[in-house]
Amino acid sequence: NWTTGNVIEEQVAAIREQVGDRRAICGLSGGVDSAVAAALVQKAIGSQLTCVYVDHGLMRKGETEQVEKDFVAATGVQLKVVDAEERFLKALAGVSDPEEKRKIIGREFIRVFEQAQAEIIADQGPAVEFLVQGTLYPDVVESGGGTGTANIKSHHNVGGLPEDLEFKLIEPLRQLFKDEVRMVGQELGLPDEIVQRQPFPGPGLGIRIVGAVSKERLDLLREADAIAREELTAAGLDRDIWQCPVVLLADVRSVGVQGDGRTYGHPIVLRPVSSEDAMTADWSRLPYDVLAKISTRITNEVRDVNRVVLDVTSKPPGTIEWE
Ligand code: XMP
Repeated sequence: NWTTGNVIEEQVAAIREQVGDRRAICGLSGGVDSAVAAALVQKAIGSQLTCVYVDHGLMRKGETEQVEKDFVAATGVQLKVVDAEERFLKALAGVSDPEEKRKIIGREFIRVFEQAQAEIIADQGPAVEFLVQGTLYPDVVESGGGTGTANIKSHHNVGGLPEDLEFKLIEPLRQLFKDEVRMVGQELGLPDEIVQRQPFPGPGLGIRIVGAVSKERLDLLREADAIAREELTAAGLDRDIWQCPVVLLADVRSVGVQGDGRTYGHPIVLRPVSSEDAMTADWSRLPYDVLAKISTRITNEVRDVNRVVLDVTSKPPGTIEWE
């Protein structure tokens, strides 16, 4: 019979057996799956695991700290944080096209992550043989069920490393659905802010700025997003909505009035949706008073934003994200 306790026990035993006295690496994204996978492997092999977190500067407010502090506190995991904000901002400068942004972010991410892996291997030696991945059952089914090894091509010249590093995969969540992963995470003592986290795209806020990405625009969007999340949580609506992208229309300006003066600022879009699997979605009928509160706070508290609009488009024809 299925209990989270049984799953954890089984996986811990299997991981110990698989890894023996060798070492593993795990990339943390800030999302639920990689966090729970890492926590499970940490429970099994402790300091033989090293986690890597690439801070690309496109995370929401407080999320990097959540990984750096709360996740480490809850698990005791060894964590290597790579601050790559400047590198990502530089690579993204002046780029507005959504697919181009995705390509750049994906490419930079792999480079930074591989560099970190290479450093860990240089430091810990060839016993680093395993890569932990938070693959879930639906991912396994979708991709046709393959498993085994990851062939990581290294573009970096880190002294004495082979050109191609081949990792064996550890995928402790391969038999689980999302809600089961959350239960396992909870049982492992991970904080609610991580375990109950709603889906967030890998390219982060980079694809929630319509227009080019800059530090200034990211900071502004981070503030607006934090306010929306705070009010949705305070209203007890987190479980009712699938996710709520908050989008900055950086290339749009509209006229407003504040105090005695005319303003010429940017709109923020709220995109709360309900969904089962993100393939289709409907816009969430949020209570007007919650929307009013979010709107008032964002326009009062976020510099350069003078308008908040609500996206009332289902998917299809809209996508959940604006880019
Ligand atoms: P769309 O916008 O296609 O989004 O309706 C469906 C779901 O996927 C997420 N999403 C992404 N996740 N990388 C990701 O890891 C991406 O580039 C990406 N684009 C969209 C989105 O947040 C939603 O949950």
